[in-house]
Amino acid sequence: MLVLGIESSCDETCCAVVRDARDVLSNVISSQHDLHAEYGGVVPEIASRAHVEALLPVLRESLKAAGVELSNIEAIAVGNRPGLIGSLLVGVAGAKALSLALGVPLIGVDHIQAHLYAPLLGDDAPDEEVYPALGLVVSGGHSSIYRCDSALEMVRIGSTIDDAIGEAYDKVGVLVGLEHPGGPKVDKLAREGDDRAFDLPISRLGKESIDFSFSGLKTAVLYRVKGVPGKNETPPELDDKRRADLCASFQRAAIGAVLLKLERALEQMSERPKSLLVGGGVSANSRLRADLKDFGERHGVAVRVPAMQYCLDNGAMIAGLGSVRLGAGLVDDLTLEAVPTTGA
Ligand code: KG4
Ligand code: ZN
Repeated sequence: MLVLGIESSCDETCCAVVRDARDVLSNVISSQHDLHAEYGGVVPEIASRAHVEALLPVLRESLKAAGVELSNIEAIAVGNRPGLIGSLLVGVAGAKALSLALGVPLIGVDHIQAHLYAPLLGDDAPDEEVYPALGLVVSGGHSSIYRCDSALEMVRIGSTIDDAIGEAYDKVGVLVGLEHPGGPKVDKLAREGDDRAFDLPISRLGKESIDFSFSGLKTAVLYRVKGVPGKNETPPELDDKRRADLCASFQRAAIGAVLLKLERALEQMSERPKSLLVGGGVSANSRLRADLKDFGERHGVAVRVPAMQYCLDNGAMIAGLGSVRLGAGLVDDLTLEAVPTTGA
């Protein structure tokens, strides 16, 4: 079964062709980062217009790279939620047009569920080895923990009460003078820094809470860069060493909070999960990947992180989960809507 996946929820236009739910034949991503860099964040109007321009070239390239014709495609999957409404609408409209023209099923996919499916792409582990699983989504818009009974059945057991972790990375990036999106650059710079140079707060919340909060940490970095309001002290100049130390210390606190909440979630699960599924752009982070590996070894849980090309937004995760939905008979029609919030 060949499924085409379309993803356009934020600032990446993506098309991918996936065979039999796990085998990725092509995964083409056109990023708009350059268009948004000068604004220090994604501008929704610019994003939707750029999706309109990119969708057809990206579609053609994904078919060519997969070595298939449009007429070989047996279903169209599209990320229809959550995301920027104008951006989502472009992908959804394109998917509907293709489904109608080709006479093949249309399948709406939740982007968050798809991030938790991304670790299974290119993997042949049977579902019985994967589920029940603990799920961690760490992206630019979400930071949540799930109990997953299958690729389609999950219950959210923790989420952020303010910023998403990727958002905090990006804001810290701006504060230390890195170009948007700052996440990958903070990751890189942190490798040269001392993660104990600054004592930044690891958010714990209530004793048993598995929710996240990253706004206090972000403010703590702000104070180290600009000084504490009301105090007449000018912080030292932000030279390369201080910048790297701040990035490293920020990472220690941000990832420390993620690990703490995973420990608590594991303690609170009635049934021991067979694996920890991780997804979202921040799952590309080198320190998080290393710390999760340790976590898995300490707790005897198989940690499944996506291959690097499936961490950030991509069409393969949409096509993959779309195939699973199709297999379960969960097909949509032309009334499919773009929805700004997740259903997961
Ligand atoms: O999943 P994603 O592509 O988009 C959303 O669904 O939000 O995630 C994008 C986020 C951005 O905030 C970006 O800075 C962050 O993932 N990110 C990283 C790294 N690579 C991407 N954050 C930390 N370390 C990285 N290596
Ligand atoms: Zn995403």
